[in-house]
Amino acid sequence: MIEKKDLFASKSKNWDMSSRRVQGAKKIANGIIKNITLDKNMHIMDFGAGTGLLSYFLSNSVGKITAIDISPSMLTILKKKSHLFNCDINILKLDLIKENSPTLFFDGVVSSMTFHHVKDILNLLKKIYNILPNDGFIAIADLYKENGTFHNDNNGVFHFGFDIKELKKNIRKVGFSKIQFETINTISKPNGDFPVFLMIATK
Ligand SMILES: C[S@@+](CC[C@H](N)C(=O)[O-])C[C@H]1O[C@@H](n2cnc3c(N)ncnc32)[C@H](O)[C@@H]1O
Repeated sequence: MIEKKDLFASKSKNWDMSSRRVQGAKKIANGIIKNITLDKNMHIMDFGAGTGLLSYFLSNSVGKITAIDISPSMLTILKKKSHLFNCDINILKLDLIKENSPTLFFDGVVSSMTFHHVKDILNLLKKIYNILPNDGFIAIADLYKENGTFHNDNNGVFHFGFDIKELKKNIRKVGFSKIQFETINTISKPNGDFPVFLMIATK
């Protein structure tokens, strides 16, 4: 089987050097902690965990995090710092879109800045729904609709952010309820300001 190119190979080494990214992940984690009752008995998945920025800031609040990503280079960075986490951490190179492993079950799924890299959002939401118990949660942070200038290179970018109404519709269609959302951050770049939402829903 031909391995897909690691689109984050050149970015991974310096990913955590950006205080903008670190602070962004911290804001998302704080938003999740504020809105969801987390506890040390919980096992959550960080979908598209990358170097684990979001996972790190949630590691005080849950018992275990399974960090899933398709990029070996991002996961290598995560592995190197995993001893700093305040919970168990399980690191998996896995494409949730392709895998249909019935062994994956979580109390909740969190995800930061990854949904725009996935083509079929409805399919992704269905997969996530199926690995949650009743009352399990999903917490997605990503860009509001943008004009395609957020990334320097749009290779591997399937959505220029998200229309909130459309995303809510898909989340409801899959079966989630109690949807809440807020603007959690704004990423300022020389070419403009890019607001980020946090959307939370319950199975
Ligand atoms: C913009 S980065 C965000 C990383 C991290 N969540 C953060 O906020 O710093 C997107 C990540 O999603 C991963 N990714 C893209 N498609 C994926 C998929 N189908 N399954 C798992 N991870 C995926 C990429 O490899 C990359 O590490």
